[in-house]
Amino acid sequence: MMRKARLLVAIVLLSIAAGAHADEHSHKYEKGEEVVVWMNTVGPYDNLQETYEFLFLPFCLGSTEIHHHHETLGEALLGVQLVNSGLDIKFRENNNKGKMCTRKLNADDVRLFRHAILNKYWYQMFLDDLPAWDYVGTIEGENMYLFTHKSFRIAYNDDKIIEYNMTSSKKFPLPAKTDTSTELTVPFTYSVEFIPTTQSFATRFNRYLDQDFFEHKIHWFSIFNSFMMVIFLSGLVSIILLRTLRRDYARYDREEGLLDLDRDLGDEYGWKLVHGDVFRAPTRLALLSAFIGTGVQLCVLSICVILYTILGDLYLERATMLTATIFIYALTSMLSGYSSGSFYNKYGGKNWVSTMLMTATLWPGTVSLVAFIVNFAAISITSSRAIPFGTMMAILAIWLFLIFPLTLVGYVIGRNFRKAPDFPCRVNPIPRPIPDKLWYAEPPVLVALAGLFPFGSIFIEIYFVFQSFWSIKIYYVYGFMLLVFVMLIVVTACVSIVSTYLLLNSEDHRWHWTSFMSSGFSAVYVFLYSIYYFVYRTKMYGYFQTSWYFGYTGLVCFGLLILLGTVGHLAAERFIRRIYRNVKID
Ligand SMILES: *[C@@H]1O[C@H](CO)[C@@H](O)[C@H](O)[C@H]1NC(C)=O
Repeated sequence: MMRKARLLVAIVLLSIAAGAHADEHSHKYEKGEEVVVWMNTVGPYDNLQETYEFLFLPFCLGSTEIHHHHETLGEALLGVQLVNSGLDIKFRENNNKGKMCTRKLNADDVRLFRHAILNKYWYQMFLDDLPAWDYVGTIEGENMYLFTHKSFRIAYNDDKIIEYNMTSSKKFPLPAKTDTSTELTVPFTYSVEFIPTTQSFATRFNRYLDQDFFEHKIHWFSIFNSFMMVIFLSGLVSIILLRTLRRDYARYDREEGLLDLDRDLGDEYGWKLVHGDVFRAPTRLALLSAFIGTGVQLCVLSICVILYTILGDLYLERATMLTATIFIYALTSMLSGYSSGSFYNKYGGKNWVSTMLMTATLWPGTVSLVAFIVNFAAISITSSRAIPFGTMMAILAIWLFLIFPLTLVGYVIGRNFRKAPDFPCRVNPIPRPIPDKLWYAEPPVLVALAGLFPFGSIFIEIYFVFQSFWSIKIYYVYGFMLLVFVMLIVVTACVSIVSTYLLLNSEDHRWHWTSFMSSGFSAVYVFLYSIYYFVYRTKMYGYFQTSWYFGYTGLVCFGLLILLGTVGHLAAERFIRRIYRNVKID
């Protein structure tokens, strides 16, 4: 049984690895060798995710033999559907009278094309993995025209293709009035010109990167902004630590300079009164364990994916990042099991089977739910974004044979590793009542205020990510992203410590969820920002694009909530352990 399972995993892994590499040829051509042009999807320019396969519009393809394109997992999920254009292009052979194909259009076809041109449909193509795109047609005054000629100017260096420009020309008029007898014959043609260049192969993607945009002053400013926040908050945390640990370091006793802060940060001794309750198990322990497990995994996953992208220049390859993310996610499942198991056990949880199941399904289940709903919308408009059945099965197999067993193993290790709770203070049998307090120390207020800080430290970066995701810019500054991410983690940890301190000082011991939510709440602000962005910064329309946008933005925000919540909770826990270590229980 075990052997069979292992074999299956190996087969799944191998087939996906093979799929990921079957496309990677050497990028070397001999004179006269065929250069394949792959047509990708078409769709409205304003709705980048609403894509249809190329032949959804009544185009036609040339007649060179059809190569099979091996789709990777990521491509299948992202709705990439490449078909060979059939253009007969030979390396370093010019051709200015190429015939691609002829297509007869009936009234329906004309209507479809007119609809496409009206909605600014564009298509994308790949030549030697280099992308190019153009509109399907153009509107001039009252008339609509279909582009029927593609001219390629391909620059080569020795035996490699460095860059190419594809421009559309020759306008075929599409009549506004059609009837059943309408039959138009449209010839699609192309021309190819090869020109030598001295530019090197290694830099050939640079022209796709919008350096003026991504390396703008604003971007550096955002780093500076986050950095200032890190300084400010870590200063605040050190002051709090100094105050609470004053007894440990007698010399601070005499320092009166801290008195002002005493007033600002509330009563100094409040937190000591709740020593019998701070280590009480949180409410909804199982759910919190599942969140913590998932959060640890997502945090490690994010860092791994960003590093891997930086090292491997993955942003240049179609969908490779998504494929990599899925596999790194699967391989890090053990971490989530481990963190969840040890967390649950630490507070003496008893229902470990259901907690384990919850940990293993929380994130994959949420992702599947969103994908399922969006998939319905995709199927209803026959978009290429509809996930094929085979891909769904592959994902299910990865969950069943990789993610689930690894989570289980991690969970069991975590559960047995932490035998007994080792808290510095005993828990009183009866919970201490929570006194009335000022409005700003109420958990919901703390949560809402605290969440503003991490959001403030990342919102410029979010703008850049959104701009590249919802327009055709390629996001490539992953170094920035890594820096911002690390600072975000630090800011989140500090914010959580400060809000936990304020909470405990008002003699409220419900810090578990408060620290989790106060750090996670910035994800809610990100989501609010995404609504603003949708309304004022994009021109998306239609229920598919809307459900795609909000479905996946919501998913990312939920992931961010779990991730930051976990960081905040773990930081708060360390802080609490530290300050209560020397509390004399009298
Ligand atoms: C493509 O167009 C750009 C911008 O117009 C130009 O700088 C470049 O030389 C062109 N490349 C080729 C191969 O024609």
